[in-house]
Amino acid sequence: MSNKKFFEERYAKLGWKFKYVKPKQAIRINTMNIAEEKVVNRLEALKIKLEKVPFLEHGYWVHHSEFSLGATSEYLLGLYSIQEAAAQIPATLFTELKNKVVLDACAAPGGKTVQLADLMQNTGVIIALDVKKERLTAMANHLERCHVKNTIIYNLDARHASKLKLKFDCILLDVPCSGNFSTDKQWFRKRTIKDIERNAKLQREIMTEAAKILKDDGEMIYSTCSLEPEENELNINWAIENLNLKVAKIDCYGENTSTKIFGKQLDNQIENCRRIWPGKTQGFFVCKLKKVA
Ligand SMILES: C[S@@+](CC[C@H](N)C(=O)[O-])C[C@H]1O[C@@H](n2cnc3c(N)ncnc32)[C@H](O)[C@@H]1O
Repeated sequence: MSNKKFFEERYAKLGWKFKYVKPKQAIRINTMNIAEEKVVNRLEALKIKLEKVPFLEHGYWVHHSEFSLGATSEYLLGLYSIQEAAAQIPATLFTELKNKVVLDACAAPGGKTVQLADLMQNTGVIIALDVKKERLTAMANHLERCHVKNTIIYNLDARHASKLKLKFDCILLDVPCSGNFSTDKQWFRKRTIKDIERNAKLQREIMTEAAKILKDDGEMIYSTCSLEPEENELNINWAIENLNLKVAKIDCYGENTSTKIFGKQLDNQIENCRRIWPGKTQGFFVCKLKKVA
């Protein structure tokens, strides 16, 4: 059986019929730097055709632009970020971010760090980690361009985040994952179940460390752009069983996840997670975790 067929059959078992999709390009307005209406008017004056994304507060799909969206003066001034629509969801799921102590544990190249800073209107503090030093320069440039003032960057493995000796109100775990075919044309050629299991293990290790440094009343958002249950529902089920965490209800775009995966019955709380199959957006998975009191 071809690798593609193998994965297509897994998706069918999860209730989704495979189809090729190309996610639309999207932007997010950095409202800490400008009133949304002003930048939308400026972009429309440049003949950029925008459509408000119905499930996002500050996101727009870009239907037409005569030039690269990374080449406008509005982009260079940090008035908007180029950020895929599903990727704009996780940061919006925290109950409160202003004046909080926030950890962005796998942060480079900083798309969600900038969004967190925007939602915080540059208050509080964000500690942004990434294990890959070479990705930090791009992230620092990105934060500077967008006028982020509340963020400290560390080149640190999230599995050692307790070295920071801090406790966090909010932790974003946008974990390294296997990705999906909608954003990577070579996906079916290069990905194997072994990669998925290796990433799932790394994700569990990152979650384990994060659970130790989350305040008792804190919130943790876990997200991946993987379609594979080992990195999503099955990992969250493991966290419920092993890390004294529960899954809180969220209200966002996507489907409630199934509590039965490949014949295995999972904890009922798993239905509070959201799965987004590729379509209008790329594929995505997101959930909110809290400590069990
Ligand atoms: C999905 S990307 C993050 C994207 C980022 N949150 C954004 O919105 O721009 C995952 C990141 O995790 C980083 N990473 C991989 N292993 C890590 C680890 N053990 N600790 C911290 N970061 C890690 C990768 O270098 C990569 O930059």
